[in-house]
Amino acid sequence: MSKFYVPIILGSTRRGRKSERVARFVHARMSKRENLETEVLDLLDYNFPIMEERLRFDENPPPHVREFSEKIARSDSVVIVTPEYNHGYPGVLKNALDYLLPEYKRKPIGIVTVSGGNFGGINCLEQLRLVTLGFGAFPIPASLPISRVQESFDEEGNPQEAFYEKNAENFINEVLWFAEAIRTQREKGETR
Ligand SMILES: Cc1cc2nc3c(=O)[nH]c(=O)nc-3n(C[C@H](O)[C@H](O)[C@H](O)COP(=O)(O)O)c2cc1C
Repeated sequence: MSKFYVPIILGSTRRGRKSERVARFVHARMSKRENLETEVLDLLDYNFPIMEERLRFDENPPPHVREFSEKIARSDSVVIVTPEYNHGYPGVLKNALDYLLPEYKRKPIGIVTVSGGNFGGINCLEQLRLVTLGFGAFPIPASLPISRVQESFDEEGNPQEAFYEKNAENFINEVLWFAEAIRTQREKGETR
C-alpha cells in the first residue's frame, strides 16, 4: 500500500505566532510514521490574497492556489493547525479554505487547536468542524487541543508537558484510521 499523504495546513500568519510550534510538533510526530507522507502548508508562505473567486471558476487564479489545490486534491486526509481567535478560526484560514471545494470531498479532517488560555481552543474546534462539513469533508471525532501554548511548547516545537506526546499519538492514529478507511472506499471506484 502506498503511503498516506496528509498535509498539515498551518492557519496562523500572525507576527510572533505560537501555532508554528505546534505545527512543528505535529509534523515531527507524523513524519515518524513510515506509512505517512506529510508536509506543512504554511499560509504565511502562500500569502493568498482575499479570495475574489473560487479556483474552479477562476481562469487566472492568484499564484500558488493551483499548487495548494493539487496537494489537497491528492491528500488522503488533511490536518489543520489553527489558533483560536475570538472563539473562532482566523480569517486567513477561512480565506484559504474557501478557494477550494471538490478537493476536500469525503476527506477526513483532523483539527489541532491552539490557545493561549486554558481551554485548548475548543470553541474554534467546534466552529471549524462545521465549516469542514460545509465543504463535504468530515471532521474526525479525535482532536488535539493545546492550552497555554506559550508555556506548553518551546520554540522548536517540543512539548513541555508529557501528555501532549500521548495525545498526539492517539490523534495521529485516528487520522490514519480514517485515511485508510476512506482510501479503501475510494478504491472501489464508487462515485455515489
Ligand atoms: C485576535 C486574537 C483573538 C484571540 N482570541 C482568543 C480566544 O477567543 N480564545 C483563546 O483561548 N485565545 C484567544 N487568543 C489567544 C491565542 O489563542 C493565542 O495568542 C495563541 O498564541 C494564538 O496562536 P498564534 O500565536 O499562532 O496567533 C486570541 C489571540 C488573538 C491574536
